[in-house]
Formats: sequence, C-alpha cells, structure tokens
Amino acid sequence: MSKIVFLILQAVLQLAGSTSLRILKSNVVALDVSDLSSSEVSLQCGEQYEGEQIHWERNERSIPETGNRITVTIDGLRGGNFTCHRANHRDVLNYTLLLVHPVSFPKGVLTQSTHREFVSCFARNYNGQFHCSWKWHQERKERAVVYFAAIRNSSLINCTLDSDISGLTCIDQNYCPYSEEPKSINLTLFVRNLYRLEEHQRTFFIRDIVQPDKVNITKIQDDLFEWRPPGTWSLPCSFFPLSYEVKVAPNNHNCNHTGSRVEKLEANVTHYKVNSKKPYTFCIRAQDTITKTLWSEWSHHHIRKHRHTSEQ
Ligand SMILES: *[C@@H]1O[C@H](CO)[C@@H](O)[C@H](O)[C@H]1NC(C)=O
Ligand SMILES: *[C@@H]1O[C@H](CO)[C@@H](O)[C@H](O)[C@H]1NC(C)=O
Ligand SMILES: *[C@@H]1O[C@H](CO)[C@@H](O)[C@H](O)[C@H]1NC(C)=O
Ligand SMILES: *[C@@H]1O[C@H](CO)[C@@H](O)[C@H](O)[C@H]1NC(C)=O
Ligand SMILES: *[C@@H]1O[C@H](CO)[C@@H](O)[C@H](O)[C@H]1NC(C)=O
Ligand SMILES: *[C@@H]1O[C@H](CO)[C@@H](O)[C@H](O)[C@H]1NC(C)=O
Ligand SMILES: *[C@@H]1O[C@H](CO)[C@@H](O)[C@H](O)[C@H]1NC(C)=O
Ligand SMILES: *[C@@H]1O[C@H](CO)[C@@H](O)[C@H](O)[C@H]1NC(C)=O
Repeated sequence: MSKIVFLILQAVLQLAGSTSLRILKSNVVALDVSDLSSSEVSLQCGEQYEGEQIHWERNERSIPETGNRITVTIDGLRGGNFTCHRANHRDVLNYTLLLVHPVSFPKGVLTQSTHREFVSCFARNYNGQFHCSWKWHQERKERAVVYFAAIRNSSLINCTLDSDISGLTCIDQNYCPYSEEPKSINLTLFVRNLYRLEEHQRTFFIRDIVQPDKVNITKIQDDLFEWRPPGTWSLPCSFFPLSYEVKVAPNNHNCNHTGSRVEKLEANVTHYKVNSKKPYTFCIRAQDTITKTLWSEWSHHHIRKHRHTSEQ
C-alpha cells in the first residue's frame, strides 16, 4: 500500500517536477526556453545545509522561499543570481547563477560580421596558433563570457580569453603543419548579457582559416617592385608556397578599385615591373597556393611620377 502511494507521489512529483537545468560550470546553470512562458526550477543551497533554516535572495532581494531546496518560477527570459544565507546573516553560503537560454530566438548578444558569422577565426600561418573574435551588440552592457572551449579529437586546445573579452587566442600544441589535418576543431562559446545566455559553435580546420598577413614590399625602383612573404608566414617557402596577385590602380583609387589591371603571378615570383607613365597605386596581396582559401589584405604603394611617397 505505502509502496503504491510512494509510486503515485513520485509520479506526481515528476509531473509537477521542475524543468531540468544544464550545468555550464560550477555555480552557473542554463535553462533552455523555447517560448516566453514561465517555468519552475528547483535550486539547492548545498547538501550540508539540509534541514537548516535557509533564506534566499534573488539578485540581492529577499524572496519568500526558504529551506535548503526551493522551487522558483522563472518568467520569460528573466534569470537571476540566487544566493542562500542563514537566518539573520548577510553572508552568502552558496549561489547559483541561473541563465536563460532562448533556443528559438534570434541571437542578439553578439552581432554578425560582414561574413554573417558571429565568431570569426583566423590563423596567419600553419604553426597551430589561431585567433577567434566576436563583436558585442552595442546595447548589451552587462556582457560577460561564461565559458569557452576549443576541442580537437577530444583534446582541449589551449586558449586564453583576450583582455577585452572579445577574442580568444589559441595554440594547438599537437598540431603538425607538415601532415594532414584529419579532425576539425570544435569551438564552443557561451556568452551572456545580464542573465540571458547565448551559445555559439564553430567547426573548422586550420587550413580553412589561414589568411596570410600583408605582403612586405621590400624594394621600389623605377616602377620595379620587389616583395617578400609576410614575416609571420610558415617556412620553408617550398613547403608553404604563396601566390600573389598584383593590381595596378589608377591614381586616387585604393586597392579595392575594380576594373583596373589585375595580374596573377606564379607562386615563386616576387617582383613586378609596372609600365605606366601616369601616377598609379601598386597593390599586392598573397594567398596560400595549395589551399587557395583567404587572401591577405592588400599592401600598397602610391607612385606619383617623378616623386615617390611611401605608404604601406
Ligand atoms: C553550491 O551550489 C552549486 C549549484 O549552483 C552546487 O553544485 C555546489 O555543490 C554547492 N556548493 C556547496 C559547497 O554546497
Ligand atoms: C552572483 O552572486 C555571487 C555571490 O554573491 C557573486 O560572487 C557573483 O559574482 C554573482 N554573479 C553575478 C553574475 O551577479
Ligand atoms: C584521436 O585520439 C585518439 C585517442 O587519443 C588517437 O588514438 C587518434 O590517433 C587520434 N586521431 C587523430 C587523427 O589524431
Ligand atoms: C597555454 O598558452 C599560454 C600562452 O601561450 C601559456 O602561457 C600556457 O603555459 C599554456 N598552457 C598550457 C597548459 O600549455
Ligand atoms: C561540436 O560540439 C557540439 C557541442 O558540444 C556538438 O553538438 C557537435 O556535434 C560537435 N561537432 C563535432 C564535429 O565534433
Ligand atoms: C619587411 O622587411 C623588412 C626588410 O627585411 C624588415 O625590416 C621589416 O621588419 C619587414 N616588415 C614586416 C611587416 O614584416
Ligand atoms: C577594401 O574592402 C575591404 C572589404 O570590403 C575593407 O575592409 C577595406 O577597408 C577596404 N579598403 C579600403 C582602402 O577602402
Ligand atoms: C619557380 O618554380 C619553378 C617550378 O616550380 C622552378 O622551375 C623555378 O626554378 C622556380 N624559380 C625560382 C626563382 O625559385
């Protein structure tokens, strides 16, 4: 008899039971919501406080619920920081930062870049280092990075958060620039604004995010230009060849000008002679010959006839 009552009670408890929470890291949990209705969640101060008179605060304001375990209602996207205390004591025993993760709403804590990505990753060579960055929505002033991890083949890659909290600098110590890259890097980033959580995922190979730095123009003489691969490019050149693109833009135009002479050069050619009697801008950029993914930014040099000005 009592067993049946217990089973029924258990079923009822499960029905009325609270929504499950995802633990992001110690003291920080996420509640996934798909609409703006309210949900009940249960919180616990700590095993050792069982049976004690525990008081709770939500965002530093007292709430009526008491005891070690409480059930609170989360309305819409309103999460909060729940702290537990002993009666007549301000000291915090423990806390749970409850973040609401709207799964079916457009993302809005970060903003998309021009390439429609929330998180952009680049590597300037094949040394295993890469950098990911993002832009915060300008109205989100209570911003914070909650959690990040870059994982390849189940191993964690060493990443550090930039001091402006808008980027990650990572180095994959196991990365071998001379061999195939069979497994991708899986990057997870959790950011929040106040109590609103947003999750961002990126999966990529180093070879797909390599963008050489700007080409180094080393010599200019009588319309003859010479250059070198960027100082940060991987060596040896025979193993990491670069192709170059040269553009000669009319005076007063920058390297984005289209419709002017564009010439693609062989991988190992590092000089070019311009035939022009008029002023012009010499533009050059580089790309990995093998993967042909991203071009470097343009390096340029203005030539005013009979007088040079250097501007790189
Ligand atoms: C504090 O609360 C967290 C949940 O937010 C829980 O995981 C942890 O065990 C608690 N710490 C102590 C000391 O009870
Ligand atoms: C939540 O409360 C704890 C305990 O007072 C505090 O250490 C933590 O910084 C608070 N976090 C946020 C995001 O308010
Ligand atoms: C992935 O990790 C497993 C276990 O550590 C290892 O045996 C395997 O060689 C790794 N694969 C690659 C492609 O590195
Ligand atoms: C992670 O990288 C940083 C910066 O390069 C370095 O100082 C730190 O020692 C590295 N940590 C590990 C565990 O390799
Ligand atoms: C990357 O991680 C996410 C979440 O952890 C997972 O859903 C996804 O399957 C992973 N992708 C790969 C390629 O491992
Ligand atoms: C360009 O090459 C010159 C001459 O070798 C060198 O002094 C300079 O540091 C290089 N600049 C860059 C940005 O690599
Ligand atoms: C050229 O275009 C790129 C991308 O559209 C832009 O980032 C860059 O600022 C432009 N450069 C100049 C000199 O206008
Ligand atoms: C450029 O590459 C071609 C073929 O790969 C080779 O025959 C030639 O000697 C190279 N030129 C220079 C200047 O390295």
